This record gives sequence, structure tokens and C-alpha cells, in this order.
Amino acid sequence: MQLKDKVILVTGAASGIGRQACLTLAKGGARVFATDLNGAGAAETVGRIEAEGGQAASVAHDVTDPQDWQRVVGDIDRLAGRLDGLVNCAGLMVVRPFQDTDFALYRRQQTVNVDSVWLGCQAARALMAKTAALGKACSIVNLSSILGQKGGSMHAAYCTSKGAVRLMSKALAVELGRWQIRVNSVHPGLVETPLGIGSMQDMISHGVPIPSVEAAVGMVAQRTPLGRMAQPQDVANVIAFLCADESAYVTGSELTVDGGYSIN
Ligand SMILES: NC(=O)c1ccc[n+]([C@@H]2O[C@H](COP(=O)([O-])OP(=O)(O)OC[C@H]3O[C@@H](n4cnc5c(N)ncnc54)[C@H](O)[C@@H]3O)[C@@H](O)[C@H]2O)c1
Repeated sequence: MQLKDKVILVTGAASGIGRQACLTLAKGGARVFATDLNGAGAAETVGRIEAEGGQAASVAHDVTDPQDWQRVVGDIDRLAGRLDGLVNCAGLMVVRPFQDTDFALYRRQQTVNVDSVWLGCQAARALMAKTAALGKACSIVNLSSILGQKGGSMHAAYCTSKGAVRLMSKALAVELGRWQIRVNSVHPGLVETPLGIGSMQDMISHGVPIPSVEAAVGMVAQRTPLGRMAQPQDVANVIAFLCADESAYVTGSELTVDGGYSIN
């Protein structure tokens, strides 16, 4: 895929899907800025990229902080002078019965999963517009979920956040097209990451009658037409496609990456 020399900022780069996206983009030739609240984790991701001969830098970054976004994008402008891609991967998942989800927890879920994406797209827009004016469309990839397309018990706060990311992406695709900035959302099912496995554990601790995390994963796999839960690489491949020139005419789309789980 055509990623060579693209400058791409990935949030949530210390773990799971974000880390794998960094590795995959760098392998494809992109220069990656890997950011995370967990700066040491992001640095570890960069260490792995450099060990494979790729180009990357890590940045400690709180995606809920507007000033932090200005700092990070400003630094990329100074160091690279362009920004071809933004992958908004940072997130958390609240798993809690609706009646037990207090307003502070609900707000935290929206701040980390929704406000962050808004802030990131706004902070990156001008530099991406400048980059696209040099010749090739830029790409924003926002991580939603199949729980941004359908409801889920104990996931009201999370579904609210991921539904918002889904439609924010479409609205921005309409508005940012004039600057040749593409915006798409990715909708994974269960992925084997700390967040994905943690969500299974949380459901069990909130009383869902499943004996173990392994049993929960087995149930998901059984309902999935492709017969397994996703690995971070399955999602990273789709992120890379959406960042690459091969998807040059794709904007405002939602790409479901769930092995068919949600259509079964
Ligand atoms: N794993 C799944 O099953 C699954 C399914 C659908 C969608 N998703 C979405 O994919 C994205 C990545 O999930 P993952 O499974 O890789 O999770 P993960 O927990 O492995 O990684 C999330 C990363 O986000 C970072 N982060 C959290 N809050 C932050 C903040 N305020 N500022 C900066 N970084 C912050 C964490 O430090 C962590 O490194 C999330 O948006 C998640 O909602 C995951």
C-alpha cells in the first residue's frame, strides 16, 4: 500500500490496536508519531518500529486536553512540516449497568472517546489542509466500534460515545472534503487487547452469567462467521488501507471489522 513518506499521527499508541497500527503503518513506509497518555508505552512501540528499521517518534499526550493537541500538532509541523494521516485510537470502555453509571463516569466516557476525536480533528485540520494542497488527499481514521452501530447491554455510555464518533466522522467527511481531507470510521468487534479482554472481565464482575473470560471469548468466536475473535493486526490492516493512497476515493464510510459477528 502507498504509505511511503506519509507522516501519520496515531493516538493510543502504547497498546492494542493503536500500537499495531503504528507498527503496520511504519512497515509500509510511513513516518509515525506515536502518542499516548502512557508515554513509556508509546516509546516502547517506537523502539519496536526502530528495531525493524522504521521511522517513528513517541510523544506523551493526553487526548482530552486541547492545549496538548496544539503542542503535539505544532511539534509535528516543526519536525516534519506536514501531516498526511491522523488515527484516533485512544479510548476506554465503560462496562456498567445503566442505573449504576453515574454522570461523572458517563462524562468521562464521552470526554475520552468523543471530545478527543473532535479536538484532534480540529487541531490537525489546518496542517492536513496544507499537506493535501501539496498534491495528495489526507486521511483521518476514527476508531468507533460495532457498538457504535448497534446497542449492547451494560454499554450505554460506550455505545453513546462510539455512535457519536461514527456520525462525527460522516459530518466531517462532508465538511473537510473541500480541503481534500478524507474521514472514515472503523468498527471492530471484539479484539484481543487489554480493552477487549477487560470488557469481558467487567461484564462477568457485573453479574453476566458466564463462567470465565475464556468462555466469553469462546461464545463470541462461536457466533462469529469467521470463527474467531479479532487480533489487533486485523484492524491495523484496515487502518493502513484507509491511510493509504489506495483508498483515495473513500470518505465518510464506516468499515466494519468483526468477522461477520454483527450480521449473524
Ligand atoms: N479491543 C476491542 O475489542 C475494541 C473493539 C471495538 C473498538 N475498539 C476501540 O479501539 C480503540 C483502541 O482500543 P484497544 O482495544 O487498542 O484499547 P487499549 O486499552 O489496548 O489501548 C487504548 C490506549 O489508549 C490510551 N489512552 C486512554 N486514555 C487516553 C488519553 N486520555 N490520552 C491518550 N491516550 C489515552 C491508553 O493509554 C491505551 O494505551 C478504542 O477507541 C476502542 O474503543 C476496541
